[in-house]
Amino acid sequence: MDKDTRLKLAVQKSGRLTDPSLDILARCGLKLSRGKDQLMGFGENMPLDVLFVRDDDIPDLVQEDVCDLGLVGLNVIEEKRLALAARGVQANFDSLRKLDFGRCRLSIAMPEGTNYEDAGSLAGKRIATTYPHLLGQFLAHHGVEAQIVTLSGAVEIAPRLGRADAICDLVSTGSTLAANHLVEVETVLESHAVLIRTPIALAPVKNAWVERLLMRIDGVQQVKESKYIMLHAPRAALPEIRRLLPGSESPTIIPLEGHPDRVAIHAVCRENVFWETLEGLKAAGASALLVLPVEKMLA
Ligand code: PRP
Ligand code: ZN
Repeated sequence: MDKDTRLKLAVQKSGRLTDPSLDILARCGLKLSRGKDQLMGFGENMPLDVLFVRDDDIPDLVQEDVCDLGLVGLNVIEEKRLALAARGVQANFDSLRKLDFGRCRLSIAMPEGTNYEDAGSLAGKRIATTYPHLLGQFLAHHGVEAQIVTLSGAVEIAPRLGRADAICDLVSTGSTLAANHLVEVETVLESHAVLIRTPIALAPVKNAWVERLLMRIDGVQQVKESKYIMLHAPRAALPEIRRLLPGSESPTIIPLEGHPDRVAIHAVCRENVFWETLEGLKAAGASALLVLPVEKMLA
């Protein structure tokens, strides 16, 4: 019976996506009872359970309908999509949301000092990667013939071991490349975390919770940078003030008792409010400026 009422969401067990994944779920109101080392977290206040797995397994779990949802990098999804296509299988997962964490890129890198002009410089080279399909697609697209050396990990040391002339791997801060004296020469894919779901129809109760989760995720992602700003300003400066308020649609204008030429302005800014903005507002005649964080937002 549980299978029909509780959602299963796959999350990376330990890695770059683990903490931000759990963080966004917590911001969506999910209370999980679990130990981090446990395979499964039980949603105490939502019919949603979290499975902790290797990120590379997440598309498969959704593909095989073991999980309804997954939080995983676009890099993993796209590699899996191509791997399935190569076997004549259609990928069975839909991307629901692009998430604002897990940003990285799949790049080709070569040892420092290597002569590199353009993708043509890769012709005849051995390129080590754990992403053979994405790399293959990139090479085909550029009409380059190179040898793809598929490894299961520790790609960055392959050139030093004489196993490859270049690598194709994820770059986030770039410190792994720097530590191994490699420099990026091409970007194969820009990646970020994605929420995927099975395209298979879910029971209405489960579907309703997917919708609620999406609405909350949207709210969470919107408020991240959003600020609530309050200020007093001369009525005459309104057009200028509105122009200066970053990413705000329709501010609330409130008359000020005893000051017919001044108003109070309240607005939600969907971008961060920097000191420069406040200084600009002040120069336009604003006073009593107050910037508050926004905790939740529901459009
Ligand atoms: C990637 C990649 C590098 C590292 C790069 O691994 O394989 O080792 O991150 O990050 P940096 O530019 O900040 O040094 P990841 O943590 O994604 O692990 P996985 O590929 O095993 O899932
Ligand atoms: Zn991985």
